[in-house]
Amino acid sequence: MKKFPTSSEFAAQANTNPEKYAQLYQQSIESDESNEAFWAKRAELVDWIKKPTKIKNINYDLDNFKIKWFEDGELNVSVNCLDRHLVDNPYKPAIIWEGDHPSLHKIISFKELHSEVCRLGNAMRKMGVGKGDRVVLYLPMVPEAVVSMLACARIGAVHTVVFGGFSAESLASRIVDSQAKLVITADEGVRGGRYSPLKTNVDRALDVDGTECIEKVIVVHRTGNSVPMSGRRDVWYHTVIDNSNEDCPPETMNAEDPLFLLYTSGSTGKPKGVVHTTGGYLTYALSTFRDVFDVKEDDVFWCTADVGWITGHSYVTYAPLANGTTTIVFEGVPQYPTWARIGQIIDKHDVSILYTAPTAIRAMMKEGDAYVRESNRESLRLLGTVGEPINPEAWDWYHNVVGEGRCPIVDTWWQTETGGILMAPLPNSVDMKPGAAMNPLYGIKPVIVDSDGVELEDAAAGNLIIKDGWPGQMRTIYGDHKRFLETYYTTYPGSYFTGDGAMRDEDGHLWITGRVDDVLNVSGHRIGTAEIESALVSHPAAAETAIVGMPHELKGQGICAYIILRNGEEDSERLRGELNRHVRAEIGPIANLDAIYIVDALPKTRSGKIMRRILRKLAAGEFDGLGDTSTLAEASVVDDLIKTVKSA
Ligand code: WT7
Repeated sequence: MKKFPTSSEFAAQANTNPEKYAQLYQQSIESDESNEAFWAKRAELVDWIKKPTKIKNINYDLDNFKIKWFEDGELNVSVNCLDRHLVDNPYKPAIIWEGDHPSLHKIISFKELHSEVCRLGNAMRKMGVGKGDRVVLYLPMVPEAVVSMLACARIGAVHTVVFGGFSAESLASRIVDSQAKLVITADEGVRGGRYSPLKTNVDRALDVDGTECIEKVIVVHRTGNSVPMSGRRDVWYHTVIDNSNEDCPPETMNAEDPLFLLYTSGSTGKPKGVVHTTGGYLTYALSTFRDVFDVKEDDVFWCTADVGWITGHSYVTYAPLANGTTTIVFEGVPQYPTWARIGQIIDKHDVSILYTAPTAIRAMMKEGDAYVRESNRESLRLLGTVGEPINPEAWDWYHNVVGEGRCPIVDTWWQTETGGILMAPLPNSVDMKPGAAMNPLYGIKPVIVDSDGVELEDAAAGNLIIKDGWPGQMRTIYGDHKRFLETYYTTYPGSYFTGDGAMRDEDGHLWITGRVDDVLNVSGHRIGTAEIESALVSHPAAAETAIVGMPHELKGQGICAYIILRNGEEDSERLRGELNRHVRAEIGPIANLDAIYIVDALPKTRSGKIMRRILRKLAAGEFDGLGDTSTLAEASVVDDLIKTVKSA
């Protein structure tokens, strides 16, 4: 197996080394006391209004369940991200915004950001939004997105960011579930030169029953194209900013008060609102940021994720700003105007740390090295990946071409639920292996178990659980605590079940092998098969359907649909196109069906359960070794399926 040592150039300035990592990790998990002591120390990275005296209070026993971190502490997250930097670094860039078109950029200092956050906070207060109220953000990657998150944090409102690529229907269901009072959106979004109708989507969402909770809509003027503004409900962002002052006293929040909800897909039913709280989340995001990215005073940090995902919450907004680090907010896409864009932005803003997804790396790699080599990337010193396993070819290319062989790569494994990174090869702590998340971060106790919950030691593969807890862990599913317990804490009682499989190699290093449940990972975005199935069968032509993942060169995983049509419906190119458009309209363009097979029957067991294992194999073009099919109700179904797939 190939191993890559840290370059001597990087090692010479690294914050850690193998001995330091091993020692601190051991100490952080050795005993309950040393674990608490470790987290108490990490909590000192945060400015508290009232310093916590209680550190950890966890009980996973279902009758007595609780997860509390720093429970008697008080703080305000926006103060940590803004006010505390105003003393020494008021004019340091907080946000470097790079617009969709290369001619647009804006640099916003901590002082300027503070002023705008306070103005928006006051404006929201005037609208009657306060502590505990939910605010939906449906925005492009503009500075106002970060301002809105921080303004909510300032007044104690709970934001729920809905990715701008989601449909009006998806937006509506999140508004209904969160019962928010306010939406902040933009007239339109711009990505890759294409405009998306955000305000129009909001209007459509607000026609849906159950969204009457929304009292106001604040609209950011981004493209200036005319959008309908409805009299009393809609107001322009710039007008509310102009009309409010910048004296906005921060709300005092308990450590366990919610900071935000973020909807993510599960293996069943509709997306769930993952709840993160204030003190534990901030401590965890901040401390992992410093460890994983080897952060220094002058770093310019670029996480390419959209703030609509957890990666954007933790590593575009909260962690960098709480640390006083300049964060890049990029509105566009890697291929616009050309595939040279990522390199150009690195050179233009002297980016020192780049954190992106394997799917983007594969797409750039496919276009050839010349685009990347248009830039010199001299400022880069560290690279990161997130969202899905990275294949060795893409890792090599990222390492050799983007990072010129000098930058270590941190392959970071985590989830919406975990709040921050749980596994990664900390820079200069270990020789990197392409495709492996390698080691747990401090205080994290990953365990591999078999399906009976027996712990597997040494080299082994199985399901990944995390014992004990960490401050950034989710606290509940909004409005559905029972589902929270059932999803994460009943499969392996006493531990958090990740839903991922993992493998420990001969050297004791960890590899994530992918989801073991019915959740797909398409271009690093999570999407439930059940969600797509229910969108599909809401089309009148579809009677029954099964969705599985399939290997996809660029996306990592693609979506494959087996569809049984209703009686009287005729298979055609046009109908397939329509079914695909229907799903994209219901969920959003990320739910694109990469393969559609119209079939007469699905392989079911005698008890009526679909054997997805067979469908996954066929979707991957594997027709032999389909495994045990003796429990199938009708064996001939498989032969018919093979014929259909082969002839497609
Ligand atoms: C799922 C979580 C918070 C990260 C962004 C996605 C997969 C994530 C890796 C990695 C292999 C990874 C897992 C996980 N995943 N990072 N470095 N290597 N797999 O967050 O949408 O909540 O998805 O993404 O399967 O369970 P998410």
